[in-house]
Amino acid sequence: MDKMLTIADLKRKAERRVPRMFFDYADSGAWTESTYRANEDDFAKIKLRQRVLVDMTDRSLATEMIGEKVSMPVALSPTGLTGMQHADGEMLAAKAAEEFGVPFTLSTMSICSIEDVASVTSKPFWFQLYVMKDRDFVNNLIDRAKAAGCSALVLTLDLQILGQRHKDLRNGLSAPPKFTPKHIWQMATRPKWCLDMARTKRRSFGNIVGHAKNVSDLSSLPSWTAEQFDPRLSWKDVEWIKERWGGKLILKGILDEEDARASLDTGADAIIVSNHGGRQLDGAHSSIAMLPKIVDAVGDRVEVHMDGGIRSGQDVLKAVALGAKGTYIGRPFLYGLGADGKQGVTTALEIIRKEMDVSMALCGKRLIRDVDRSILA
Ligand SMILES: Cc1cc2nc3c(=O)[nH]c(=O)nc-3n(C[C@H](O)[C@H](O)[C@H](O)COP(=O)(O)O)c2cc1C
Repeated sequence: MDKMLTIADLKRKAERRVPRMFFDYADSGAWTESTYRANEDDFAKIKLRQRVLVDMTDRSLATEMIGEKVSMPVALSPTGLTGMQHADGEMLAAKAAEEFGVPFTLSTMSICSIEDVASVTSKPFWFQLYVMKDRDFVNNLIDRAKAAGCSALVLTLDLQILGQRHKDLRNGLSAPPKFTPKHIWQMATRPKWCLDMARTKRRSFGNIVGHAKNVSDLSSLPSWTAEQFDPRLSWKDVEWIKERWGGKLILKGILDEEDARASLDTGADAIIVSNHGGRQLDGAHSSIAMLPKIVDAVGDRVEVHMDGGIRSGQDVLKAVALGAKGTYIGRPFLYGLGADGKQGVTTALEIIRKEMDVSMALCGKRLIRDVDRSILA
């Protein structure tokens, strides 16, 4: 049996287990994928300072994100179609995150619904909102997240129109999948995935089907997004969303110092420095390159989180050193899920925890709360 020691191991296994169109959906960025690659590559350029003869006992990665206790500063990113990486994927990932003591964020574009995830978890999870033109539907989504006890709303700002990902267009990605010879072949060569999928009824967008009016072609993500997402979303809208929600609000998708400063007026509890995992504006800077500039721009006035390119616990440590109070992983948990279901998500989290713990100690720190720029070489 293969030993899963790195996120790359999980990725290779997921590629063997998940039909090509869904594996590619996770492993893709916009256009040339340069920003997708930069997110990972720029982490590798940051060097850590090796220290010796410091007490390394009683280490702890525990901290807080938006006032919630977390066993380490890593949350699961909201990702669309997660229930296509593995049957009931969002429910499995949410349970794995809850047991691990880290936040799970459910995407608007999930396969399992808000209510499905609430039915299998006992602690509050976070809900990510995309703003559609149909405001009744948006209000209803916010109310459903409230009713399910979600403890934070993550408002995504960087996808009002969809960046082009060539692989998805070439693969004819849809949910549920189409039954063309190509798609049937992709699924037939992944029998375990098919068997699990045959056992669940959750194969379409659980938050939307049966809730949104006039949804004509939901199976096609690009056309549905073009038709339904609101390209006029503005800072003013953040106000009514905050008011309607009435709880903790996190703004996701900020990559510019000016936007970061503007976010201070919204009263948001946190911002996520993010370029949507390189899936939107190809050619934009990596998240980790922008993080220190944004931290310097906003100071302590809002909690700064980041995502994009984290593939190891060392990457989390570097982000924390550069001022992130929390981080998120997208693809690492999706690869775990595709590889081994709930256990795979736990494995991804364990890999990251171990790498972070050992690296922190070798940098001469015992507490993640004490990590700052001084651990960087
Ligand atoms: C397959 C996939 C689907 C995603 N879907 C969403 C989504 O529905 N909503 C959202 O706000 N971000 C979405 N994202 C972006 C992630 O939340 C996150 O910003 C990104 O994955 C972080 O980069 P990483 O994958 O390198 O960790 C998605 C990312 C991936 C890989």
